Amino acid sequence: MKAIDIRNKYLDFFKSKEHSIIAGAPLVPENDPTVLFTTAGMHPLVPYLSGQTHPEGKRLADYQKCLRTDDIDEVGDNRHLTFFEMLGNWSLGDYFKEESIKMSFEFLTKWLEIPVEKLSVSCFAGDNDAPKDMEAFNIWKSVGIPENKIYFYGKKENWWGPAGQSGPCGPDTEIFYDTGKEACSSNCGPDCDCGKHVEIWNNVFMQYNKKLDGTFEPLAQKNVDTGLGLERVVFLLQGKKDVFETELFSDIIAKASELAKVQIPESFRIIADHLRASAMLIVDSVRPSNVDQGYVLRRLIRRTIRHMRKTEIDPNKIREILEVLVSSQIEMYPELEANKEAIYYEIEKEKNRFMNTLLNGEKEFDKVVRNLKSQNISKMDGQNLFRLYDTFGFPPEVTAELAKEQDMTVDINEFKVLFEKHQELSRQGAEQKFKGGLADNGEETVKYHTATHLLHQALKQVLGAHVMQKGANITAERLRFDFANPEKLTPEQITEVEKIINEQIAKKIPVICEEMSVQEAKDKGAIGIFDSKYGDLVKVYTIGDFSKEICGGPHVENTSKLDKIKIAKEEAVSSGVRRIKAIFVKE
Ligand code: ALA
Repeated sequence: MKAIDIRNKYLDFFKSKEHSIIAGAPLVPENDPTVLFTTAGMHPLVPYLSGQTHPEGKRLADYQKCLRTDDIDEVGDNRHLTFFEMLGNWSLGDYFKEESIKMSFEFLTKWLEIPVEKLSVSCFAGDNDAPKDMEAFNIWKSVGIPENKIYFYGKKENWWGPAGQSGPCGPDTEIFYDTGKEACSSNCGPDCDCGKHVEIWNNVFMQYNKKLDGTFEPLAQKNVDTGLGLERVVFLLQGKKDVFETELFSDIIAKASELAKVQIPESFRIIADHLRASAMLIVDSVRPSNVDQGYVLRRLIRRTIRHMRKTEIDPNKIREILEVLVSSQIEMYPELEANKEAIYYEIEKEKNRFMNTLLNGEKEFDKVVRNLKSQNISKMDGQNLFRLYDTFGFPPEVTAELAKEQDMTVDINEFKVLFEKHQELSRQGAEQKFKGGLADNGEETVKYHTATHLLHQALKQVLGAHVMQKGANITAERLRFDFANPEKLTPEQITEVEKIINEQIAKKIPVICEEMSVQEAKDKGAIGIFDSKYGDLVKVYTIGDFSKEICGGPHVENTSKLDKIKIAKEEAVSSGVRRIKAIFVKE
C-alpha cells in the first residue's frame, strides 16, 4: 500500500465512524507566536480540547503536516524525520477510552490487515497525578492483545502534553509494531530503541489541564487525541527497512546517489529529509533568515549542502534533486508542484549564500593553520574547531580531514564539550521562546495582527481587488504580509497605503467581532479564507466600514491602540507574489 492509500483509508475509516474530516493547519501556526511550528495534529485544536465548541462537531479527523526540530541532529539515523505527516482523530468530550482503543484496533487489524501478533501496547503505570490505567489494560485485553504484550510505563513514555507549558494533557496508550527483528536482550520491550518495536500510534486520553504552576486539574471534558505516524506505517506495511526505502524518499535518494562521487547512505537520507522539510516550509511562506522559523530553514538547507559536499555532489546540482523531490510527492503534496518556482529559487539562493560562507571558511582555516604552525602546535584546539563549525559551517570531520593534509590533528573532544554546551543553550532558548511568547509579547503581536487587516484592505484600495493574501507571519517586532500582485509597488503606492492605514488608526475605530455562517460572511462582503476548515460558523472582524475579514483573532478592541505604521520593506517572494514588512513607529 502506498502512503496516499493509507492516508485515504484512514480518513475513510473515521468518516465511517461519524468523524468530520477537517483540513490540516499550516506548518507555521497561525495566530500563535508561542511556538515555531505545528508539531502535532492536536496543536491547532487546543481551544476545542479545552472546551470551546468546534463548528464541525465532536468527532474530528485529519492529516496534519508536522515539523519537529528537537532531533535535527539525529536525522539520518533512519527513524527520525524532520517533517512528517500525522494522521489524527479526536473526540471532543464525546467517546473516550473504550471506543478509541477499539477503533484503533479495528483500523489496524481489519482495514490495514495487520496481524494481531505484530502488535504490542503500553499503558500508563500511574503516579501521584493520575492512577494506573487498568481501564485501558482491560480494553486491550478484551480486544485480543495478550497480557504479556501490554506494558506499563511512567510519565516519560505514557503521558502526552501539554504542547506548551500549560494546557490539555493526559495519560496515553501507545501501539507498537514488531518488525520481527531479534530482541536485543531479554529486557527488550516497546520502550527499547533497538528498532525491534516501532511506535506507530499514540492515543492520548486528555482529561487534565496542566497549570502554569505545574499542577493538574480535570478538564471541562474528557477528550481523545490520537496521532498515527504515516511514514512509519508506510514502511512497516511495505516490509521495508525504513521510511527512506519507501516511495516517499526512494527517488530522491536514488538521484542523490547517482550524482554523488562518494556513497554515504546516511548523508543521502539527510539530504532527502532536509530538502523535503525545506520545501514544505517554503510552501508555507517561510524564507531563510537568522531568526525563528527562517533560521531553522537556513540550518536545514545548509546541512543539506554540507552533506552534498561530503558525498561530492556538485552543490550546483541541487535543483536536479529538488525536481525529483517535487515530482515524487505529486500525489501526496501537489502544493509542492504549485510552489516549485519559489522552492527552487529560495533554496538555490541560500545555497549560493552558503557557498560564499564556505569559501571564507576555507580562508579562515588556512589562517588558523598558519597561526598554529608558527607556534609549533600540531593539534587544533576545540575553540577553533567550534568556531569553524558554528560561524563558517565547517563540520569538524571536514576540518579534521583538511588538518590531516597539513599533518595536524584536531581536539574533537573539546569540540564535543563546546558543542553540547551550545546545544543546551539553544534548547533553553527554544524553551524560553515557548514560555515567553504571548505572555511577554502578546500585546504587540495582537496590535500587529489588527494592523495586518488594515494593510490588506489598504492594498486592495490602492492596487485593486486582485490583492489576495498569500501568507502572513506576525511577531512582536513586525508584521509580514505576502499577497498576490504582479509588480513591485511604486514609492507612491507605498506612501498611499501607509497613509490609508494611519488614517484608520487616527480615526479610533472600534474593532467588532461577530460569529456568523460562512455564507453570511460572504454575503456581507467579508474577505479572508473561505476554507472548510473554518466550518460553518466563523468569526468576522469588522473595522468600521473600512475592513471586514474572516479571522480567528485575537485583535485590539479599537484602532486607537495601534501605533503609526511604516512599511519597512517591499520585495518579491516569487513570481506574482509580493511581500511587505511593516513596523510600528512609536511617536
Ligand atoms: N498528540 C499526540 C502525539 O503527538 C497524539 O503523539
